[in-house]
Amino acid sequence: MDYREIISKLVKIEGLSEEEIYGLVAIPPERDKGDYCLPCFKLAKLLKKPPQVIAAELAEGLELPPAFSKAEAVGGYLNFFLIKELFIRDTLEEILSAEEYGRSGEGAGRVVCIDYSSINIAKPFHIGHLSTTVIGAALYRIYNYLGYRAIGINHLGDWGTQFGKLISAYKRWSCRMQIEEGGIKEMLRIYVKFHEEAEKNPSLEDEARMYFKQIEDGDPEALEIFNLFKEMTLKEVGKVYERLNVHFDSYHGESFFNDKMEPVIAELKEKNLLKESEGALVVDLEPYGMSPCLILKKDGASLYATRDIAAAFYRKKTYDFYKCLYVVAYQQNLHFRQVFKVIEMMGYEWAKDLEHVAFGMVSLEEGGSMSTRKGKVVFLEDVLNRCVEKSLEIISEKSPGLEDKEKIAEMVGTGAVIFSALANNRIKDIVFSYDRVLNFDGETGPYIQYTCVRANSAIEKAGYVPHHSSIGFEGLCDIECELVSLLFKFKDVLRDVMTKNEPSLLSRLLVDIAQCFNKFYFECKILADEPGVRDRRVAITAATYRVLKVGLELLGIKVPEKM
Ligand code: ARG
Repeated sequence: MDYREIISKLVKIEGLSEEEIYGLVAIPPERDKGDYCLPCFKLAKLLKKPPQVIAAELAEGLELPPAFSKAEAVGGYLNFFLIKELFIRDTLEEILSAEEYGRSGEGAGRVVCIDYSSINIAKPFHIGHLSTTVIGAALYRIYNYLGYRAIGINHLGDWGTQFGKLISAYKRWSCRMQIEEGGIKEMLRIYVKFHEEAEKNPSLEDEARMYFKQIEDGDPEALEIFNLFKEMTLKEVGKVYERLNVHFDSYHGESFFNDKMEPVIAELKEKNLLKESEGALVVDLEPYGMSPCLILKKDGASLYATRDIAAAFYRKKTYDFYKCLYVVAYQQNLHFRQVFKVIEMMGYEWAKDLEHVAFGMVSLEEGGSMSTRKGKVVFLEDVLNRCVEKSLEIISEKSPGLEDKEKIAEMVGTGAVIFSALANNRIKDIVFSYDRVLNFDGETGPYIQYTCVRANSAIEKAGYVPHHSSIGFEGLCDIECELVSLLFKFKDVLRDVMTKNEPSLLSRLLVDIAQCFNKFYFECKILADEPGVRDRRVAITAATYRVLKVGLELLGIKVPEKM
């Protein structure tokens, strides 16, 4: 039942289409303000009247359809109230009868490119990569769930002079076998050693430059070593992706665009957008209040931005995207504003479809700053391992007789880490604390998983999921209404996640649902004596389980049957 649609058909506003009204209808934050509202503030300009007057006029003479009990103008809002019983029955029926609740085809025919994780070859996959990886992967699943075709892109950092340094270091202090055995830690070791040695012996830098030139010129030996670094990095990172439930459709990184920048640079020249500045070629962005975007260095080398511009063209040509998202830390704000602006200046209207989905920094509560050059890093894999270990301890203590403890601990530990990066507004910085993310009573992944398990075992105990028509409404408690309203929000929230590219809206809803369910669980007897009441409460429990489970899975978190 789409009440929004009903409201948008019901309310007639001159100069506004049904669709536009649909877009205005919202869910009031407080339930006593109704189940839906139409804020009239944005209409004031169009109708040249104060919002209060508009709301009052709209309320007059409304003929409410059967599902609504009243419509009321308060302040600048027109509030709608649904008939509780009907609302509950409709909502439960919809959740329980759907194969996959909330899945829709609204995005059919539209492609959304999502650039996320985008790791650097031979560099550690560390805690700083957590947010981009799990935010990107959650968006990927949610866009797909809403019918879009999401394309996950790992824009690998596989180009740059550091690879010359790595080859030099490899030849001096390592070998294939050591790299194959030690993986990224070995690459990090020789990279750190290179910097230490180069301080004493600056000629190493020249050697590194020579090796980088060899990669550029396609020297077979240099390429072989470079490819070994790439292969070993992807192999190691792939294990973490698997644990986090993360998937990519493309691994075209920076080096893929080596031969795709020429036409872009030619077009920039042709459109008179390139300026010389101290020997380098730049696009002047002063009129837009930004520093110039560097396109070619003095020595003719291309830059990160040059590759990103070429990559955007490639993505547009290959996927004809509806949107292209870049899930990258806010430190790269300026970079993306520059890149998008340059494409706009080249005259491409689709520049408006490029979006930087920025997020804040993650640091560990235990402190310590990170520096790859000095080898000080917190590997994401180590964080996962430690969380899984701690989960195993907690689970073993809570439920000593449980089977498959290791498997469950893996779901709980990784779930805790994933949820921690999705729990708050993405732009906020995060201080990661093991105790906090694993608190089974906090606003955490494990808390929601545990609530799911609790709901599931209540359903098992009941032994059936009732048919909606047998639901009775005797003794309906406030908490039951509140819970069903929260479940009802799920579909709206999925849409909000998509329009704002903000998965935390879903995480927040899941926390609210879990908290509300636990209150319901302790306050209301689910297996009530009266059959109608029992049916209603078992149905509410089953619906809660479904919504929490799909919700967690969309975030990338698995739900154990027991824990
Ligand atoms: N590898 C880059 C980094 O670690 C992130 C790449 C993001 N994606 C992009 N298209 N620039 O900073």
